[in-house]
Amino acid sequence: MTHPRIGMIGAGMMGEAMIGGLLAHGIPASHITASEPRPDRREAMHQQYGITMVASNREAVATADVVVFAIKPQLAGVVLPELNGHIPSSALVLSIMAGITIATLRDGLNHAAVVRAMPNTPAMIGAGISGWTAVPAVTDLQKSWAQQVLSSLGQAVYVDDEYYINHVTAVSGSGPAYVFLILEAMIDAGVSIGLPRHLAKQLAEQNLLGSMQYALASRKHPAELRNDVTSPAGTTAAGVNAMEKAGLRTAVTEGIKAAFERSIELGKPKH
Ligand SMILES: NC(=O)c1ccc[n+]([C@@H]2O[C@H](COP(=O)([O-])OP(=O)(O)OC[C@H]3O[C@@H](n4cnc5c(N)ncnc54)[C@H](OP(=O)(O)O)[C@@H]3O)[C@@H](O)[C@H]2O)c1
Repeated sequence: MTHPRIGMIGAGMMGEAMIGGLLAHGIPASHITASEPRPDRREAMHQQYGITMVASNREAVATADVVVFAIKPQLAGVVLPELNGHIPSSALVLSIMAGITIATLRDGLNHAAVVRAMPNTPAMIGAGISGWTAVPAVTDLQKSWAQQVLSSLGQAVYVDDEYYINHVTAVSGSGPAYVFLILEAMIDAGVSIGLPRHLAKQLAEQNLLGSMQYALASRKHPAELRNDVTSPAGTTAAGVNAMEKAGLRTAVTEGIKAAFERSIELGKPKH
């Protein structure tokens, strides 16, 4: 299998995670060129990964098969015009910039083949999940490149309409923050009933991790797993009942709906 040449615009947190993942998945360092404004960062990235680091965004994309936009969304207004007309016409543009629509990318770059993706932070350790979508101009080969590049961050799932990127954003893009909030709440609750904080932290962390691994391994529906551990008039029944009464299920639904609505709002054209 031939590997695509990657031109990466911005090698910050996400860019570095992607570079590390691509190398781990067998893409040769000679196939990766990334641009970064800071010379010390360029040097550090070159030393650590052996990839080509350049200051110029135009140089980074000159021979690329896949051009990855891993800069902050606020920079799109500057960088898209800078690269307009400089991306090879056969290349795929793949953006992970939150809230930057396909129309903005296509019009701003004057480029047809565009993929938009939404990863999440566990990507930092290759355990993320990205939702991605492509315009009809993207070929099957380019789709396979998109899947390959995004797999460097963890799992990658295709959605056939850009509108669903809002759903992905609400459930998994913002998702790690919900889990961290629940983790934090469990630790604080453990402390409030008398546990030392370090012990509450260890118990809550392993509980979330182990429960998730068990749920995936068992392939059972979550309700079935919960019923299995809920004995009549027992402690779990009392705990779950109090959480339901306090509106946990509604809070999660409202949270995901709010993120969904905000994602739609942020994607609207600015006047
Ligand atoms: N982090 C997440 O969980 C997450 C999730 C989903 C999507 N995303 C998206 O991923 C993208 C990158 O996020 P990040 O967290 O990796 O940001 P980041 O760490 O700030 O990385 C952006 C990098 O771009 C560099 N840069 C600044 N100006 C540039 C320019 N004109 N040309 C080329 N590079 C430039 C920055 O260099 P300096 O540091 O020197 O300015 C920085 O190293 C964002 O669009 C974000 O929406 C992130």
